[in-house]
Parts: sequence; C-alpha cells; structure tokens
Amino acid sequence: MTELELDVAGHCTAQITLRINGENHTLELEPRVSLLDALRERAGLTGTKKGCNQGACGACTVLVNGRRTLSCLALAVQFEGKEITTIEGLADEGTLHPLQAAFIEDDGFQCGYCTPGQICSAVGMIREFREGMPSAVTNGGPLEFSDEEIKERMSGNLCRCGAYVGICDAIRGTFQSGAAL
Ligand code: FES
Ligand code: FES
Repeated sequence: MTELELDVAGHCTAQITLRINGENHTLELEPRVSLLDALRERAGLTGTKKGCNQGACGACTVLVNGRRTLSCLALAVQFEGKEITTIEGLADEGTLHPLQAAFIEDDGFQCGYCTPGQICSAVGMIREFREGMPSAVTNGGPLEFSDEEIKERMSGNLCRCGAYVGICDAIRGTFQSGAAL
C-alpha cells in the first residue's frame, strides 16, 4: 500500500515505483498527479502527449498491462505494480514496432502530435479485436476488421491534421499482416 507523507506546509507526497517500458522509476509525487504528468514531467518520457487533459482527444493514450489507458484521467499512484508501456517502449532495440513503421509508410501523420497516442491506442485496439471483443458497430454480427470497425474503435483518438486516411491504412495493413504486437 502506498504511504503518504505530510510536511509542515501541508504538502502531501507519496513515494511510488512505476514500472515503465520494463524499467522501474521511483518517484516522489503528490497523490493528485496524473499518470500523464508523472510520465512526462517526472520520468522524462515526453513521447506521451498532453492534448485536452480531460479525456477527449486520446493524445495521452498509453498501455497498462496491455490495455489502452488515457493517462490524463488516471492518477499515477494507482499504477504501482502495473506494466506501463509508452511510445518509447514499443520499438525493439532500434527496430520500429510494426505500427510505427506502418504509420511512416502510409503517411499516418502530419504534425505528429497525436501519433504516439494513435499508435498506442491502435496496439491495444488490435489486441482487443483479436481477443474477440465487439464494438458498437459489430452489432452482434461476425467480427470483421472493416474500416467501420477501425473508425469506431479508434474514435477516441482525434487528429487535428486530419491524417485519418493514412492512420486507417496503417492500422488495416498491420492487422492484415498478422504482425505480433
Ligand atoms: S490529453 Fe488525455 S484524452 Fe486528451
Ligand atoms: S498528425 Fe497532427 S494532430 Fe494528428
């Protein structure tokens, strides 16, 4: 259980160890600090982006125990003992993750600000699909990796540049390639 400390000025802090991209990061922070701020400002992992900071854009998406999570809506102190993966942790010793390579190949970005969140979300989304999870557009029918499914399942990730055609191509191509994610 995380222990809290209170100083004479009334500041409450906790020392926690987060496991991020396979490495332990011991951080001293206030319990109200979001996972997003802990990643960016305390652990120095600035690949995860802050867009709306209120759960509406998906720029801050990371993977927690393999599931996509909006890090701006999560408190860092809740994540001790969990495996957190950010965009920095997807490449394998210099080899791009299949989705990173596909986003480059298919022009899945322009400014790139939404891209880390798009890629982390797509990794989680393809895993969910492979596990047979339905979406709102599946509607009881057989699971088919259609563009409608991609759009619905990625609807929490916005791209102000409108690179959606390339994003969709990259995700579809990666799924169809059967690449391990
Ligand atoms: S920054 Fe988290 S959803 Fe927009
Ligand atoms: S590439 Fe610019 S916001 Fe998506």
